[in-house]
Amino acid sequence: MAELKINNIYKGDSLEILKNFPSKSVDLIFADPPYNMQLKNDLYRPNNTKVDGVNDEWDKFSSFEDYDNFCKSWLKECKRILKDTGSIWVIGSYHNIYRVGNIMLNLGYWILNDVTWYKTNPMPNFLGTRFTNATETLLWCSKGENYKKYTFNHKLMKKYNGGKQMTSVWNIGLCIGSERIKGEDGKKAHSTQKPEELLKRVILSTTNKGDVVLDPFFGTGTTGAVAKKLGRNFIGIEQEQKYISIAQKRINNINFLLPEASWIEEEKEQQIKVPFTDLIKDKIISVGDILYTRKRYNKKAKVLDNGNLLYENNITGSIHRIGSLIQQTVSCNGWKFWYIIKNNKAILLDDLRSKYLQTHYNIGRNLDTTDNFELELNEEQETLKNKKRKKNKKN
Ligand SMILES: C[S@@+](CC[C@H](N)C(=O)[O-])C[C@H]1O[C@@H](n2cnc3c(N)ncnc32)[C@H](O)[C@@H]1O
Repeated sequence: MAELKINNIYKGDSLEILKNFPSKSVDLIFADPPYNMQLKNDLYRPNNTKVDGVNDEWDKFSSFEDYDNFCKSWLKECKRILKDTGSIWVIGSYHNIYRVGNIMLNLGYWILNDVTWYKTNPMPNFLGTRFTNATETLLWCSKGENYKKYTFNHKLMKKYNGGKQMTSVWNIGLCIGSERIKGEDGKKAHSTQKPEELLKRVILSTTNKGDVVLDPFFGTGTTGAVAKKLGRNFIGIEQEQKYISIAQKRINNINFLLPEASWIEEEKEQQIKVPFTDLIKDKIISVGDILYTRKRYNKKAKVLDNGNLLYENNITGSIHRIGSLIQQTVSCNGWKFWYIIKNNKAILLDDLRSKYLQTHYNIGRNLDTTDNFELELNEEQETLKNKKRKKNKKN
């Protein structure tokens, strides 16, 4: 078995090259295989100009059976190469995605989502014989029903989506303008270059920083380019030298990281269990400190030396338990529920937890303690604030 060379484009036939890769060695596979579009004649617009569609040799197969066998082969190898915590995305159109999906299910892959890429700027149906085809499908699968530990950055994607859970319909335009790579003749360098936004969502949602993403049909290297911008590694396979040269140049020219590259840190923070008492030990919080809720609940509790809170003079429990008691919910993330007032500023416990993680785990997150909680201070806190203000004035 050959050793994997990361951040490298292998030249040749995927069917052959994949066989040489070690088992369970990559974290994510993104495959944009030939679609087998079966385009028989050239297509013309009403003004008689030729449509620049997908009519490449690499997209031609002698029969559906031939195409199916090709897909079975590379999909089988991909399953072997994928780590148990990994997942695979395959993109296709109505021409091939149902055949691909069927093969994947027969190989034991487990479909996690079928994401619809809704093209906001689709090519019209020039013949007027069908609806304008405005979608492609991405099948996102784990290695099987029992492979449940696949990476999925749920919180990160929610943040990326402006605080709302992302749906399986992605509105993204076709790759056009300056992003579209052109040849010397000014024409598209590749007929099916995918938009970077699409790959950004794929890679952000299902890998961690430093992970390895394999793309067995690399084309212009969109997967490699986005992986590099997000601080991930890539392995590409492509059979045509002209595309390899384009991809290599494209990737070499990238010398920056996108801001989202470090977002995963925040997600990691949430996975580390920090006992509340450790914040007391580190003197980030002191015994006797008062914690406050938002004005909606208008409650407070006192920090005890065993890390519990004393609430309403006779109830004790963890920050989570007292939080759920107040909210009357089954559970509560106390870190995101309680505030402490320091230097006249309301600080969420979760931000103090971040401070602790920075010291002990070197996980960095930019802390933003200017929470609008200040606008919602309850009466008692207002008095406290005013007293402090007066004292400051006197001094
Ligand atoms: C649909 S395109 C991928 C486009 C790519 N996602 C991008 O954004 O540029 C498929 C690519 O796979 C390559 N290809 C097709 N069959 C292949 C094979 N058996 N081995 C390696 N590459 C292959 C083609 O040359 C083509 O560039």
